Amino acid sequence: MAATTELGRSLHALIIFSVLLLLAVRPSAAAGIIVTDTLSSGGNVTDGETLVSSGGTFTLGFFSPTGVPAKRYLGIWFTASPPAVCWVANRDVPLNTTTGVLVISSSGTLHLLDGTGRTSWSSNTTSASAAAAQLLESGNFVVRDEQGIGDDDDIIWQSFDHPSNTLLAGQRLGKNPETGAEWSLTSWRAPNDPTPGDCRRAMDTKGLPDCVSWQGDVKKYRTGPWNGLWFSGVPEMSSYSEMFTNDVIVKPDEVAYVFNATPGAPLSRLVLSEVGVLQRLAWDPASRVWNVFAQAPRDVCDGYAMCGVFGTCDVNTASTLFCSCLQGFSPASPAQWAMRESSGGCRRKAPLDCGGGNGTTTDGFVVVRGVKLPDTDNATVDMGATVEQCRERCLGNCSCVAYAAADIRGGGGGSGCVMWMNDIVDVRYVDKGQDLYLRLAKSELAKEKRGDVVKIVLPVTAFVLALTALGMYFVWICRLREFGDENLELPFFSFGDVITATNNFSADNMLGQGGFGKGILDENKEVAIKRLCQSSGQGVEEFRNEVVLIAKLQHRNLVRLLGCCIHGDEKLLIYEYLPNKSLDFFIFGMELMERGQNNESAGLIPC
Ligand SMILES: *[C@@H]1O[C@H](CO)[C@@H](O)[C@H](O)[C@H]1NC(C)=O
Ligand SMILES: *[C@@H]1O[C@H](CO)[C@@H](O)[C@H](O)[C@H]1NC(C)=O
Ligand SMILES: *[C@@H]1O[C@H](CO)[C@@H](O)[C@H](O)[C@H]1NC(C)=O
Ligand SMILES: *[C@@H]1O[C@H](CO)[C@@H](O)[C@H](O)[C@H]1NC(C)=O
Ligand SMILES: *[C@@H]1O[C@H](CO)[C@@H](O)[C@H](O)[C@H]1NC(C)=O
Ligand SMILES: *[C@@H]1O[C@H](CO)[C@@H](O)[C@H](O)[C@H]1NC(C)=O
Repeated sequence: MAATTELGRSLHALIIFSVLLLLAVRPSAAAGIIVTDTLSSGGNVTDGETLVSSGGTFTLGFFSPTGVPAKRYLGIWFTASPPAVCWVANRDVPLNTTTGVLVISSSGTLHLLDGTGRTSWSSNTTSASAAAAQLLESGNFVVRDEQGIGDDDDIIWQSFDHPSNTLLAGQRLGKNPETGAEWSLTSWRAPNDPTPGDCRRAMDTKGLPDCVSWQGDVKKYRTGPWNGLWFSGVPEMSSYSEMFTNDVIVKPDEVAYVFNATPGAPLSRLVLSEVGVLQRLAWDPASRVWNVFAQAPRDVCDGYAMCGVFGTCDVNTASTLFCSCLQGFSPASPAQWAMRESSGGCRRKAPLDCGGGNGTTTDGFVVVRGVKLPDTDNATVDMGATVEQCRERCLGNCSCVAYAAADIRGGGGGSGCVMWMNDIVDVRYVDKGQDLYLRLAKSELAKEKRGDVVKIVLPVTAFVLALTALGMYFVWICRLREFGDENLELPFFSFGDVITATNNFSADNMLGQGGFGKGILDENKEVAIKRLCQSSGQGVEEFRNEVVLIAKLQHRNLVRLLGCCIHGDEKLLIYEYLPNKSLDFFIFGMELMERGQNNESAGLIPC
C-alpha cells in the first residue's frame, strides 16, 4: 500500500515535470514562431502568438482569466508566472472569441481587433511616420518611430503610461501637473475579472507628494507625505533599499513615485488588490511563489482619519481602541469616544491666541514625536524655508495649527516647511516617525511644563527623600550605638584606689583651687581628680547620668574624663592629667572645668 502511494507520488511528480517542460517549450515549439519582442509596422500578433521581451522576463499575448475561458484579453505577464498579469489592454471590452489580433497601423496606432475587424481597444495616439512597438525587458510595451527603436526620446505611446492594477520597477505612479495626465493604479473587479474595480491608488500632489488609496470617492489610506527618503508613514521602505530603491520625482511636468530594482533583486511588483490592499510581491524562483514583501494598509491605524481631527492612533493601545487626543485636546464628543466612535476627533482645550497676527502671540509649540505627518492636502509647503523660519511663519499666521520639516534628508531637524491650517487629520505613531510641532495656547504649554517639572521634580524629590531617610536611618543606628556606648559602664574607681592615688588627698597633691588633686592610678597613669561637695544632695543615679554626659563631650582640646568614684557621700571625677599644663588645658580644659564649677545646672558642684 505504502509502496503504491510512493509510486503514485513519483508518477505524479513526473507528470507535473513533463507538463512544465511542455509549457516551457510551447511558445516556440507549438507554432514554430520566431520569438521576438517587436511588432513592426504592418505586422500583427494573433491569439496564440506572443511577444517576449529580450531577456525573457515578460510576455505579451492573449489570455483568459482563471475560470473564464470565454473572455479573451490582451495583456502582459511575467513569463515565469503567467497568472501574474501586470497590464491589460482591453479591460472593459473582453473578446469573446480567440480570433482577436493586435495590429499596428501605419500611423503608429495600436489596434486590438476582434474576429469581425472591429476595434475593441486602441492606443489612441498617432505618429507622423511609421512606427513599431516593442516589449521591453522592463515590462513596458512602447510604440516608437521606426527609426527611433532603442531610443527613449521618441516614445509615442507606452503601456507604463496606462497602468492597470500593477506597478513595475521603473514605472511611475503620479501626475503630470502641466497636462493633468495621471498614472494611477485601478484594481480589478475580481481576481479573475480585469474590469476596473472601485479601488484606486494615486499620487496626491496637493501639499507634499503622498500616495493615496481610494475606494470610490472615499480616501482609505495614505502613505504620508514624501520626506525625501521615504513616505512619512512607511519608514520601513528604507529597510529594503538594497533590493528596491524608492524615489519621488518632482519636476514641472512630473510628480511621481517610482521604485527601481537593484541588480540581482528578485522580480517584483506592486499590486492593488480588489479590496484596495497594495502589496509589494517578490518572486521566489526556487519555490515559484510570490512572497508578500510589504503591504498597505498594514493595521487599524492606517485607516484614513481613524481618530478624527487632532486625534492620533497608536497600535500599541488596544485598550483605548487605538485612538487618543493630541496633547492640549480632548474628545469632541466624550459620549461617542466612550462608545469607541472616535472619528469625531478632538477639540482644543484652550483657544489659541492670535496676537493680532503680528507675532505677539503667547502661543507656543509642543513636539509630537515619531508620527506619520498629517494629511497635507490643505497645507502650505515651502521647500526653501528652514524649520526655524517655519516656526516663525506658523506663529505669525492665526490659522496655522502645526508645522514640520518637509525634508529630513539633511539630518538634524530637517529642512523645508509644511504648515497645517485650521486642523490636522490622520496622524499615527510609527517607528522612525517624524516630529510634528503642534501649536498650543500658553496655558496648555504651561501644563506641559508643569508636567515636565512633575516628571523631573518628582523623581528628584523621591531620590532626595530616600537619601534623607537613609541618612536618618544611619544617624538613628549611630544613636543606638551611642546609647549602646552609654550603656557601657563608665569605669568606676574604688574609693580605696583614689585614696591611694592621692595619698589620702594630701595637700602636696592639690592642684590649684577648687578641689582638684593629682594622683597616680593603674600603673603610673597620672590623673587629675576632682572631689565634689558631699552636700550637693545629688542622687547617685543623677550623678552618674551627668558624668556620662560629660564623658561624651570629648574633644581633642578637652581634658578627657576617665571615670568616677562614688563612695558614700563622696563623689569624685577622674580626668586625664596633662603634666605640662598644655595651652590646650589652660585655654579649654580649665575653662570647661571652671564652667563645670560654676554651672549650677550641671549639678556637679565642686566643694
Ligand atoms: C496578420 O499577419 C499575417 C501575416 O503575418 C497576415 O496574413 C494576416 O492577414 C494579418 N492579419 C491581420 C488582421 O492583419
Ligand atoms: C461577442 O462579442 C460581440 C461584440 O464584441 C457581440 O456582438 C457578440 O454577440 C458576442 N458573441 C457572443 C457569443 O457572446
Ligand atoms: C482617446 O480616445 C477617446 C475615445 O476613446 C477620445 O475621447 C480621446 O479624445 C482620445 N484621446 C486622444 C489623445 O486621442
Ligand atoms: C500687535 O497686535 C496687538 C493687538 O492687535 C497690539 O496690541 C500690538 O501693539 C501689536 N504689536 C506690534 C508690534 O505691532
Ligand atoms: C481641505 O479643505 C477642503 C475644503 O475646505 C476640505 O473639504 C478637506 O476636507 C480638507 N482636507 C483636509 C485633509 O483637511
Ligand atoms: C495664513 O496662511 C494662509 C494659508 O497659507 C493664507 O491664505 C493667509 O493669507 C495667511 N495669513 C496671514 C495673515 O499671513
